Amino acid sequence: MKRFKLAVNLIRSSKHLVVVSGAGVSVESGIPAFRGESGLWTRFDPQKYASLDGFTKNPGRSWHLFMELLVLIAQAKPNAAHHDLASLERCRYLKAIITQNIDGFHQLAGSQNVIEIHGTMRNLICTECKQRLSSRGMIFDSEDLPPICPCGGILKPEALLFGESIPSKPYFKSLKQIRLADVVLLIGTSGVVHPVSEFPEIALRHGARLIEINPEESVFTRPCNTLHLKGKATTVLGELKKALTTDSKEDQ
Ligand code: OAD
Repeated sequence: MKRFKLAVNLIRSSKHLVVVSGAGVSVESGIPAFRGESGLWTRFDPQKYASLDGFTKNPGRSWHLFMELLVLIAQAKPNAAHHDLASLERCRYLKAIITQNIDGFHQLAGSQNVIEIHGTMRNLICTECKQRLSSRGMIFDSEDLPPICPCGGILKPEALLFGESIPSKPYFKSLKQIRLADVVLLIGTSGVVHPVSEFPEIALRHGARLIEINPEESVFTRPCNTLHLKGKATTVLGELKKALTTDSKEDQ
């Protein structure tokens, strides 16, 4: 409880709150995380299915993972955590969300300033002519994988694969937000993938405080002296939003 009140006060007095989100935020929408017992990487070896090298060698194989993600995203919708974050932005508490998620749910819930540092499944891009097309409604039979562009090139989601470099625009936009932040709220990320793995340390060097929402500990929890609010994103964010939008003298 003491931690929770401290977090409310930190957010309430913050001037530039930035959220860094990961797969855990969408778990309660029905999209599994990558790591952990029921994580996608227990069924899909990331090196084979989700790396540039694996895709180049066997794009049809990678497309089995991409199709599963496309179907999961099409069947799911933003949950209360996405909506609460959008509402915290509308109340001017939250300045930006840096997300590793590729489902577009923050924007669907109404968040405006969202930086998709790992790209998106919303679009497909031709590996030859670089033309982009929407993935909306695209369902391919497994014998038609990988899908091919009219130019003959292989299509790939605009989501980042391991071994691809982070596009500079979202990277520098994220860095700017992390340096401006006085409070960084880490939600539902294990924090093991570069460059997000570096962001808490950079934020700390710039004087920010870190709050984390996660039912488990992450690599940030202890070494970064993070204020860990242990729990699911929908539950903890719901309580935070309630406390922040209610004029409670007790919390001030
Ligand atoms: P991970 O699967 O590594 O971690 C998900 C985190 O969410 C874990 O720390 C869980 O404890 C936590 N979690 C689970 N359920 C939760 C809930 N209901 N509320 C809050 N937290 C919950 O996912 P990411 O950290 O996002 O990249 O993974 C980072 C990157 O690794 C992904 O973007 C993807 C992956 O490989 C690429 O594919 C390039």
